[in-house]
Amino acid sequence: MIPGAGDLRFDRMPPLWVPLRAFLAAPFLGAAAGVMLAVAGPAVFVDRWNRELIAAAHLVTVGFLTLVMVGAILQVLPVVTGVPVPGTRWVGPLTEATVATGAVLFAIGVGYGVPGAAGVGAVLLGLGIGVFVAVALAATWLTRRNPTGRAMGLSVLSLVAVAGLGVFLLAGHAGWVPLRRDLTEVHLAWALAGWVGLLVMGVSFQVVPLFQVTPNYPRWLEHALPAVAFTGLVVWTAGRLASVGGLAAAGSLTVVAAFVVYAGVTLTLQARRRRTLRDPTTDAWRVGMASLAVAALLMGAQSAGVITLGDTRIGFLFGVVAVYGFAVSVVEGMLYKIVPFLSWLHLQNIVTAEGLVGKVKIRNMRQLLPPPTRQFAAHLAAYGLLSVAAVFGGAWVWPAGVAVVTDFGWLGVALVGVVGRHREDRERVLAET
Ligand code: HEM
Repeated sequence: MIPGAGDLRFDRMPPLWVPLRAFLAAPFLGAAAGVMLAVAGPAVFVDRWNRELIAAAHLVTVGFLTLVMVGAILQVLPVVTGVPVPGTRWVGPLTEATVATGAVLFAIGVGYGVPGAAGVGAVLLGLGIGVFVAVALAATWLTRRNPTGRAMGLSVLSLVAVAGLGVFLLAGHAGWVPLRRDLTEVHLAWALAGWVGLLVMGVSFQVVPLFQVTPNYPRWLEHALPAVAFTGLVVWTAGRLASVGGLAAAGSLTVVAAFVVYAGVTLTLQARRRRTLRDPTTDAWRVGMASLAVAALLMGAQSAGVITLGDTRIGFLFGVVAVYGFAVSVVEGMLYKIVPFLSWLHLQNIVTAEGLVGKVKIRNMRQLLPPPTRQFAAHLAAYGLLSVAAVFGGAWVWPAGVAVVTDFGWLGVALVGVVGRHREDRERVLAET
């Protein structure tokens, strides 16, 4: 029995390859972003519309984050709620393949001005994410009484706005429609706060207590905060599109408050962990939560008219803190646990099914993936150098790009190593049958 896994339905989980394919491909798309930054050089952090910057940002936000998040929803939703995403065995590969290919074509199309590639990228992303959203919404609607299921539902609903606007903007880069840059801010708000922010919230209600051995989140937070953040986003969007400043500010400050509270509560729970052993996953989530609080406060200062983000140095820093500091740190931290955990669990199921319990030894999670302390240090170095490059620009982009390649490349190699060890153990177990 897995400690703290009380009512989780591991009997409902999809085949290992469904989430694993996404988890293994994603780091290498992230590494490609580092290559793009290093090749583009000092021009990157001069103008927010720099096309290599937008392209590299989407190799990270679509190629790494969205790909892992699709795999995580297909894996976590059935385990937490007992309700599998319909058609997982074909939706998984279809969405993962179109999101990965779409991200690469996006980068070529926008980054190097190839309208055809941007167009095909827009079609693939629209198709793959469209299918995923349809079936994931059907499943999350059935699980709306479960806090994690509900937060995931709101996150997938946000993805409708993100991908809908994103594909429209990408079609603009393909020359198919006018490029409506006035909508880009709405796109990025739903992407960072809705799709990423709400999914991290929903998943954390399970994985933080389970893998970081903290107390559970307070029930009021699990039940109310995702809906409060989502409502704030809707109000901000209405105010933004109708140019009603007060409404936009009220909505934005609601979102800011929700995420500052969430980050604060998570850091407090982590401080009350029942395990004192240092752990890269907990450290990665600490960096993620601190970055989330900083990004939210920067957003709050802009809503209060104290600062302007937009095309400024602090605007670039905001992007690095929100995307790399918060989202990438949290997702890397989750991969450190979920990949060895799933590999171990599937092996354990084979041993049990073959009646070999106590007769054959399999590796435990730490042996499948020894704590990636040095890889996490590479992640911190990349985050630090990207922040310096965002503020000072110039030649700092080169070491920052190389550090991003090192961070994601090392993560990818470490995860491929887990699969290699899993395969070895699996063959050894099956040889006993
Ligand atoms: C289907 C997936 C997506 C597509 C097709 C897409 C497309 C685009 C396009 C074409 C732009 C540039 C707009 C312009 O030139 O004005 C853009 C901007 C942006 N996107 Fe996405 N995007 C997607 C998903 C995401 C996700 C998941 C995130 C973050 C988690 C994200 C974050 C951003 C940001 C931060 C910008 C703004 C850059 C700036 O304002 O400087 N996008 N997106």
